[in-house]
Amino acid sequence: MFKILTLNNISVKGLQQLPRDNYEVASEITNPDAVMVRSFKMHDMEIPATVAAIGRAGAGVNNIPVSKMTARGVPVFNAPGANANAVKELVLAGLLMASRNIHAAMKFAGELEGTDAEISAATEAGKKNFVGSELPSKTLGVIGLGAIGVKVANAASSLGMKVVGYDPLISVQSAWQLSRKVKEAVSLDHLFSQCDAITVHVPLLDATKGLVSAERLAMMPSGGIVVNLARGGICDDAAVLASLDAKKLHAYVIDFPTAALLKHPKVLSFPHLGASTDEAEENCAVMVADSLRDYLEDGTIRNS
Ligand code: MLT
Repeated sequence: MFKILTLNNISVKGLQQLPRDNYEVASEITNPDAVMVRSFKMHDMEIPATVAAIGRAGAGVNNIPVSKMTARGVPVFNAPGANANAVKELVLAGLLMASRNIHAAMKFAGELEGTDAEISAATEAGKKNFVGSELPSKTLGVIGLGAIGVKVANAASSLGMKVVGYDPLISVQSAWQLSRKVKEAVSLDHLFSQCDAITVHVPLLDATKGLVSAERLAMMPSGGIVVNLARGGICDDAAVLASLDAKKLHAYVIDFPTAALLKHPKVLSFPHLGASTDEAEENCAVMVADSLRDYLEDGTIRNS
């Protein structure tokens, strides 16, 4: 009988991959053979010596002490691509919300009071403050052309946007082959200088920390949109706020709210919702449960 410790709620479909005859799965369990986790931060926890594998039901593994586990010979399995569609949809929602000023307009509408006639008059008077712009004439820069970035590129292209791409880890040629919709694979500086909107889909690494910097934001045309549903830290938040306050940048869409960003009228904050769909939670849970089962039962390694 294998014992699996869950540190977050894991979709039932995923747990069904671990047959009850062979697996005991619980949020409290002694001497677990493996851990299943979503966003719980494992860096400060005592990870039992019995743990032989960790499964992250998501793409990013920055909540797991991967180097420490590697030194112990413990593989960390993730679920690359399993939530890519969910993230893509939230990126599109963020782009559309920002370009049509939907967050500010909804706040305005939600605060209207009075009779229907008064609300109607205030609506007509107020709507001039929320005039937006349309996506088809705009260029989107996709930074990171993995499973999510490629889906975003294809979807933005089908909305009529011109899409250029950059990837810090794979070659320009491979990036081009991954998505025919990325019209050009460009250098990072070139991307910033020609894009009305940029979206980041890279992990948080030393190489990507502060990648969206003051210097690069200064290269963007006025009225730009920055979308970061990947990880906090990839954008230099202070530089983004300064650009928003200087009315250079139009909007900042994030999935990791912080005290400094939360209340800013030009920041659209989602509460880490990128992968939060029924479908994505199921896909991720099934993928990591399969990985853990194969590893525990016969040592097969996949997605680690
Ligand atoms: C991811 O890294 O894929 C997401 O952060 C997953 C999640 O929301 O748990």
